Amino acid sequence: MREILEQLESKRAAARAGGGERRIKAQHGKGKLTARERLEILLDPGSFEEFDTYVEHRCTDFGMQDQRVPGDGVVTGHGTVNGRLVFVFSQDFTVFGGSLSETHAEKICKIMDHAMRVGAPVIGLNDSGGARIQEGVASLGGYAEVFQRNVLASGVVPQISLIMGPCAGGAVYSPAMTDVIFMVKDTSYMFVTGPDVVKTVTHEVVTAEELGGAVTHTTKSSVADCAFENDVDALLNLRRFVDFLPLSNRERPPSRPTADPADRVEIGLDTLVPDSPNKPYDMRELIEKVVDEGDFFELQPSYARNILIGFGRLQGHTVGFVANQPMVLAGCLDIDSSRKAARFVRFCDCFNIPIVTLVDVPGFLPGTSQEYGGIIKHGAKLLFAYAEATVPKVTVITRKAYGGAYDVMASKHLRGDINYAWPTAEIAVMGPKGAVEIIFRGDAGDPAKIEARTEEYRHKFANPFIAASRGFIDDVIFPRNTRRRLCRALAMLRDKDLKNPWKKHDNIPL
Ligand code: HXC
Repeated sequence: MREILEQLESKRAAARAGGGERRIKAQHGKGKLTARERLEILLDPGSFEEFDTYVEHRCTDFGMQDQRVPGDGVVTGHGTVNGRLVFVFSQDFTVFGGSLSETHAEKICKIMDHAMRVGAPVIGLNDSGGARIQEGVASLGGYAEVFQRNVLASGVVPQISLIMGPCAGGAVYSPAMTDVIFMVKDTSYMFVTGPDVVKTVTHEVVTAEELGGAVTHTTKSSVADCAFENDVDALLNLRRFVDFLPLSNRERPPSRPTADPADRVEIGLDTLVPDSPNKPYDMRELIEKVVDEGDFFELQPSYARNILIGFGRLQGHTVGFVANQPMVLAGCLDIDSSRKAARFVRFCDCFNIPIVTLVDVPGFLPGTSQEYGGIIKHGAKLLFAYAEATVPKVTVITRKAYGGAYDVMASKHLRGDINYAWPTAEIAVMGPKGAVEIIFRGDAGDPAKIEARTEEYRHKFANPFIAASRGFIDDVIFPRNTRRRLCRALAMLRDKDLKNPWKKHDNIPL
């Protein structure tokens, strides 16, 4: 018996050794942790239950029959994050570069199937050279098996990808279909074709970092949501992120006790909006002042900064925030911000997370580049997302809500449940200046007249009371009381039940 136990111990030790000391040293030398070290940080101590430790590849070509490492380049299983169940896979770059073989894919599929059956998130720690080149189509088939599961799991369990090394070729498409992608700065990259192929085909000379590094994907392409400094930073932030999410679409998001009083008054908010309508202010300050303990997890903070998205809590319950940011492009909606917010609204709606929308938007950004880029279709995404969302929707207009953008930003007409305005709100078809230039075009040569008309228009429309008189705004509230009003509205809406008509699926303007 003792001998058998010793054999088991030595098999486990072989699996733990991965690709061997030399390769582990090389991994550390790049500033990267190993697959198992990463899981130790991600999961609660002692909570990891590993599957398929002894799985080996089946390839016999190119001398592969003599190169077998137990586990085949990916560590899979389940564990807990702050006591809550998650399924994980962590690719081991020290074993065939973390490349995906048929059996490696089977291991990932197994945990995805479990996650779907029990209703728990799937977290992928990606560090892989892509398809196992020695295996050919068997590996491609493995990828497609994972892709299929990504799609079926979408909207059922949260799927989170953390890119911690190379992610090349078709390998990028599994993360791309997950709900969020986090990347590690300087050591991770994602691209469909690498710098060498790019050079051959387009004659562009570009580094891997420029082509698909964390900065590129969080500032230019928006493929990734957040970039973190190193493995530890990324993993700890991932733990923090998981805390906001329900385990599946069958659950409400988690709530946790908070010492922050729901009726906390923030006097400073009364002076947040400047006297001049053209002066910006930081909408992030409003979010941080209303959420529990000022804790706001922002997604895509460096992309389309004219809109803010992210998670916070009110009275301990997770809330998704969408907020125009007057500091950037005056808070206008454009192609990038519409896409960014639309996907977030759908993410929240999938997972029963109420949405708080903070509005200060002068309209859609005009211009040829926006029109040629399809702002109509992209803006419609946000409109579509808000209109189909059935989760509780609470809106606060702090200042401008003009034109189509008023409608889009979770207005009453798109089934906004509670719509508040600050007394500084201006709700109209367009700003006073633009309006007067159109409806009093004949007075264009007379600046005094134009000024008087503008003032008249401002007085009449640049306030929340016309909208409130129609019931489009439920109440005009004191800014200082915003947290209390939001908390009460969301408490009232906690058991909201609203269903859309049956359909196979909708046809959102992609
Ligand atoms: C098998 C691989 C591998 C792969 C790396 N290795 N990629 N083995 N299949 N795809 C092995 C290497 O042979 C090496 O083994 C070890 O992993 C580390 O690789 P290095 O090249 O030494 O490391 P590094 O210099 O850091 O470069 C990493 C890399 C490079 C950039 C990922 O290895 C690379 O370009 N790999 C190929 C990437 C690629 O083209 N993949 C296929 C994409 S197509 P030893 O034994 O020396 O340690 C694809 C199609 C999927 O994925 C389609 C799905 C729809």
